Amino acid sequence: MKLILRILVTGLALMAFSGLASAEGDVEKGKKVMKRCAACHKVGEGAKHRVGPMLNDLFGRTAGTAEGFKFSKAMRDAGAGGLVWNEESLAKFLAKPRKFVKKNKMSFSGLRKESQIKDVIAYLKTFSKAKVEGAAIQ
Ligand code: HEC
Repeated sequence: MKLILRILVTGLALMAFSGLASAEGDVEKGKKVMKRCAACHKVGEGAKHRVGPMLNDLFGRTAGTAEGFKFSKAMRDAGAGGLVWNEESLAKFLAKPRKFVKKNKMSFSGLRKESQIKDVIAYLKTFSKAKVEGAAIQ
């Protein structure tokens, strides 16, 4: 009886643990998701602005401020209004770019799956020096 109980408890603990682990995105999967952004965005050493701004050091960056990139007024206004990129704001933006920053010029309809959003965020984070605060995405 005791043994069964122990197995049950261990099982529950493991389930809780894997639940926690999945709150963080998967960097390798995020790399694949990033292919959908790559036509417009570069990231990594020596990345340059293309159709969209390069995404190095994105975390902690105020929206619309990457030097040398011509942002829309909408994106600059969002930054002036206090929008800073972190896990939370990126998750909202990437789900519905047009809705989150109205009239911005990123022609991308958004990522539908929450897991893709988490994964691409985890991937982009690896190119940011600032390890940003902000709630982990639930
Ligand atoms: C068709 C081209 C295109 C695609 C695809 C695209 N973007 Fe963009 N992105 C842009 C443009 C253009 C802007 C600048 C928007 C503005 O100034 O209004 C932008 C802006 C951004 C910003 C804001 C950057 C800043 O410094 O404020 C982030 C973050 C971003 N994109 C991430 C992504 C991610 C992640 C993906 C893939 C899931 C993606 N984008 C797909 C073109 C694109």
